[in-house]
Amino acid sequence: MSSASIASSDIPRASTSFRNIRNPSTWQRIRLTIPASDSSGHPVPPGRSRLNLKECKMKESCIHVVNARGAAGDEREAFLGETIADIARTASLPLQRSQTLPREAYVDQRYFEHEADKVLSSGWLCVAHVSQLKTPGSFAAVDVLNEPIVVTRDQAGAIHALSRVCPHRGTDILHECFDVAREGVTKRLVCPYHAWSFTLDGKLSACPEMHEAEGFDKADWKLAEIRSEVWQGFVFVNLDGKAPPLAEQYEPFARIVAPWNTADMEVVIELDWTCDFNWKVLCENWMESYHHMGIHHDTLQLTMPARTTWTDVSYPNFIRCHLPFREEEIERVKAERAGGPRLPGFKPIEGLSLEQETEWGLYLGMPTFMFLTMRDRVLWYRVEPISAQRSRVKTMTLVSKEAMQDPGYEEALVTERKMLSDFHSQDMQVNTAVQRGMNSSRAVRGRLSHLEEPVWRIQRYIAARLHDTYPPNEAQARVA
Ligand code: FES
Ligand SMILES: [Fe+2]
Repeated sequence: MSSASIASSDIPRASTSFRNIRNPSTWQRIRLTIPASDSSGHPVPPGRSRLNLKECKMKESCIHVVNARGAAGDEREAFLGETIADIARTASLPLQRSQTLPREAYVDQRYFEHEADKVLSSGWLCVAHVSQLKTPGSFAAVDVLNEPIVVTRDQAGAIHALSRVCPHRGTDILHECFDVAREGVTKRLVCPYHAWSFTLDGKLSACPEMHEAEGFDKADWKLAEIRSEVWQGFVFVNLDGKAPPLAEQYEPFARIVAPWNTADMEVVIELDWTCDFNWKVLCENWMESYHHMGIHHDTLQLTMPARTTWTDVSYPNFIRCHLPFREEEIERVKAERAGGPRLPGFKPIEGLSLEQETEWGLYLGMPTFMFLTMRDRVLWYRVEPISAQRSRVKTMTLVSKEAMQDPGYEEALVTERKMLSDFHSQDMQVNTAVQRGMNSSRAVRGRLSHLEEPVWRIQRYIAARLHDTYPPNEAQARVA
């Protein structure tokens, strides 16, 4: 029952023992005799965990507070219910009639928090690549939905995702405010507050002056382990601990990208970007290539025209798009494969088919794994949703070990760094501008081109996850 529906006349009048509740000394006395309180702040007698409103002897002002809280809660529930229903309606439209999501999905913090819980925390979020944790003792701090995490490789070589929250008094042991490295190689992770130290698998190894703490056993006090998995060399975490295993969720994604052997690649470029936009703005922009003819008209459109890009049959937990090269580019690749001059770039990945070499393979592993295959490298964008209006992203290039040994590697690296920065700068501009527009009361529900099929598929995934389910497996349906 909503507390807003309870009238103040329903509440018994204050008894003498609760008179002058605002008088500090009386309050203190009450607090001393009735130390506990329930979730509404109502004092409860010993042996009881809660007091119902009719039993409460506090003054009416207390009830007003409770009622106000209830009204705000009701309003939030109504808002979320409407927004979720709108998203479900939008996602159920056929592609030919598809339109953009309501602006609230991009700007409203209440919706963001709900979405973070239902869509992001329940999925697998990519936080690192094994090449960033090469040696035993490697560690890297990463924030996932404001959850402080450290990814480590322990002395036995196993990868862990650990909470950075110290089990002593709750400190984030690698907070930016401390003058300590947030990534590197170490034997122990030491909490700067009282110097408790932890091994790379999270065990408490030392804690000064705790010998008088009765019943204290070091073995009970670890950095909490967050559920993690390594998929194709990428380290993922699942915050709610309930997602189906990645091998199941991303099947057959792993088989499709197997020729790149990403587990053996190395991250060679990392660029950090602070983004004043919602994470979905970034993912939608990443997946649709319609905008090649707009903001990328002088870069990507020249080699992969928007019109020829297409979206593969859909799988419930990832989207695959093809960005084929123009004919003259294909001829250049053919000539190189036939023994002609090397094209600019890193040493090509061995064993790729002509088709794999002459297109970019664009992927979104749901919900946020942005991944791109090319003939000589792969890109991975690590997104950190922070709030409705803010995200952080790290754009990264990975190459094979063979490419790193190639005489042309250093030169290719310089060119790649510039390219990675240039074309993402164009995307940063449009994403920032989209968020500004979404914040306007004049924002309308736009219509989508067929080239924006991935945007529509993202909507379908989000709508399904908001209802604790997944979109249908269209690939499986076709086989059946
Ligand atoms: S809070 Fe970490 S050692 Fe005290
Ligand atoms: Fe782009």
